Amino acid sequence: MSRKIKVAQFGLGPIGQSSLRLLAERENFEIVGGIDIQPALSGKLVGDVCGLPSLAKAKIYPTFEEMWKKVKPDVIVHTAGSRAKITFEQCKPMLQKGLAVVSSCEELLFPAHRAPKETVAIDKLCRKSGGRILGTGVNPGFVLDLLPVCLSGVCRSVRSVYGERVVKRAGIGGIQEIVERGKGGACGFSGVAVTHCSFVRMEDWEGDRDAGTRARGSRHQDPVLFG
Ligand SMILES: NC(=O)c1ccc[n+]([C@@H]2O[C@H](COP(=O)([O-])OP(=O)(O)OC[C@H]3O[C@@H](n4cnc5c(N)ncnc54)[C@H](O)[C@@H]3O)[C@@H](O)[C@H]2O)c1
Repeated sequence: MSRKIKVAQFGLGPIGQSSLRLLAERENFEIVGGIDIQPALSGKLVGDVCGLPSLAKAKIYPTFEEMWKKVKPDVIVHTAGSRAKITFEQCKPMLQKGLAVVSSCEELLFPAHRAPKETVAIDKLCRKSGGRILGTGVNPGFVLDLLPVCLSGVCRSVRSVYGERVVKRAGIGGIQEIVERGKGGACGFSGVAVTHCSFVRMEDWEGDRDAGTRARGSRHQDPVLFG
């Protein structure tokens, strides 16, 4: 096998820890470090925080710059926020060094919606440095956008798309299952607007992108119900 890809994790919350556990199962990746702003995590071993005793060397640093002095990853997995502007700021030092960043930031699925100027600036930076940044995830990133686009790929025309988001939240007395659907009230999910934008773009519905987003996505009222 060729050289392993060196990966560092930026943000060691529940999603970052799950990403690391998954990465640790793959032979072609080497986890070289973690970054988290929480003082309680800095200096600890990634393996201790994530329950991965095999990771004996990878440490957690308070900043990317601190980590870069000690280890040089090829890829950063970013799981530290939902806003495109903030994520771009956090990832700029990595992109300047030409690294690849994969992020679960919801708005990064379609960054031009909330951060148009910053998106152009980051694109310019990456073209110069060779850095790359990708926003992806389950939702947004797959279930309510890419998957329906793929499923409708065999359709001659698409008039509307309906999606339903089911969230399991830990509550007092156990797990509560909440179904947010159609016009059933605010769902408060920052991914709705970018899901809509990216879907419209992928389906080439350029003309009604803004109207659809204003009418439905940005008020967080319909999870996904457009067309
Ligand atoms: N696209 C998707 O499918 C999808 C799915 C789940 C979660 N998410 C998003 O992924 C992100 C991570 O989820 P989570 O539940 O682990 O969040 P979390 O808030 O519990 O954890 C984020 C971690 O990042 C760290 N952090 C924040 N700012 C930092 C900085 N400047 N430098 C270093 N570390 C910093 C925090 O200390 C924390 O440990 C959230 O924004 C969430 O909304 C996206």
